[in-house]
Amino acid sequence: RAISLLEKRDQFRGRSVLVTAGGTREPLDAVRFLGNRSSGRMGAALAAEARRRGAEVTLVASNLLVPAPVGVDVIQAPTADDMARETLARGDADVVVMAAAVADYRPAETAEEKRYKDDQPWTVTLEPTTDILRELGAGRDPGTRSVLVGFAADRGERGLERAREKLNNKRVDLIVFNDVSREDIGFDAADNEVVLVSESGERRIEKAAKEWIAAAILDEVAA
Ligand code: CTP
Repeated sequence: RAISLLEKRDQFRGRSVLVTAGGTREPLDAVRFLGNRSSGRMGAALAAEARRRGAEVTLVASNLLVPAPVGVDVIQAPTADDMARETLARGDADVVVMAAAVADYRPAETAEEKRYKDDQPWTVTLEPTTDILRELGAGRDPGTRSVLVGFAADRGERGLERAREKLNNKRVDLIVFNDVSREDIGFDAADNEVVLVSESGERRIEKAAKEWIAAAILDEVAA
């Protein structure tokens, strides 16, 4: 059944929605970091759309290159560690959407000061960060009515398969798969094209502006 715009306005009324957005930066020293190409557009669009549908929205933001939407509570989380702390502290939201590109690894050591150059190679050891999505999934009560959404930035058909595996492995309700081997969508682009993977099947959302993709994701969450 198609629902009217008026109904949509109140679809998430009384619900708390937590969205993470952007890309973490893991400091190497006082001025350098390891980062990624996420702009935060997809997460910002999700936060805006959830707000439009009446939700109480918290945006855990990591180095956004776009403005945060008005009317949402913004928490800054520049590193994977910050993101883990701020997100896990709010994991009891009715809906949690992990749209942020969180570093899987960070430098094992960070220099307080800027490192001076010499003629030697600089070897950096990277250590794994907390997998926030996995922790959120593991901490859920059986029979909960909350909804947990993860993203999977991967490549091609094999990537889609891995996204299906993540549903069960990480105890997530919905995985939003996008193909990062394409330049025209996903990271740092205005458009996206995704496959929504859930227990009930798969739905491909054709290439569209991230605002449109955000609406499709929230339709699925509501369903
Ligand atoms: N994620 C997370 N914590 C991390 C890294 C990623 O919660 N430390 C979340 C992302 O926000 C995203 C999801 O995990 O929602 C998928 O991340 P992705 O990099 O696609 O896959 P991984 O789980 O890291 O697995 P792999 O790298 O093996 O594909």
